Amino acid sequence: MKIIVKDNYKGLSRFAAECIQKQVQYNPGSVLGLATGSTPLGLYERLVQDYKVGGTDYSKVSTINLDEYVGLSKTHPQSYHMFMKENLFSLVNIASRNTYIPDGKAKHLEEECKRYDRIINTIGPPDLLILGIGENGHIGFNEPGSSFEGQTHIVELKESTRRANARLFSSIEEVPKQAITMGIKSILYSKKILLLASGEKKKEAIGQLLTGKIDEQFPASALHLHPNVTVVVDELAYNRQ
Ligand code: GLP
Repeated sequence: MKIIVKDNYKGLSRFAAECIQKQVQYNPGSVLGLATGSTPLGLYERLVQDYKVGGTDYSKVSTINLDEYVGLSKTHPQSYHMFMKENLFSLVNIASRNTYIPDGKAKHLEEECKRYDRIINTIGPPDLLILGIGENGHIGFNEPGSSFEGQTHIVELKESTRRANARLFSSIEEVPKQAITMGIKSILYSKKILLLASGEKKKEAIGQLLTGKIDEQFPASALHLHPNVTVVVDELAYNRQ
């Protein structure tokens, strides 16, 4: 695991955007694994800005998102479908038929998980997967205790995760209690992984990740089992001891 410390969020976002741009320039048909949350917002903003001034061509790129809330329709303002549409997909020339996100409104959720695994296995694996990290070490929506052997599955969200994500909803009651997420096994199937963490709130999780201890109670520690992971943090998320 490689660690890169950037001065601030802007530097972190620029670095991550350059990694994606290089990947797509090297292979225009790249498969990108994408995350939601506040952390990758700066990265997406940067991709869009550069795209507007005649940058990278995304017309042959495919994307596979990590997760979606159960019960939210694709047009719900807090759904990850909407997040991706508003912050990236509608702003660059990615073909919507090449973008994949689990369907949180699927009638048969177990079937939806299997369908998503088939997508990961046929379209994927991602050449480059972007990850954020939850304050409790979750990746995607793989909460503490998730099996490292897991593929796409339904998770019960921890109260702490619902609280952390409540800022995006009008109240905590509105935050769904379940989500569909790519499992840790599927995450580790990606060829390269870039984990981004910014701000003081992530300091503890990053500190724990960098101890190198592998433990199912701390999902991000599974990344130590992968040969090509880069952790990009800003000064605030990095604990210099
Ligand atoms: C959510 C997402 C994760 C994300 C995490 C951290 O739970 N499912 O993919 O990494 O939040 O979010 P943020 O970047 O907003 O701190």
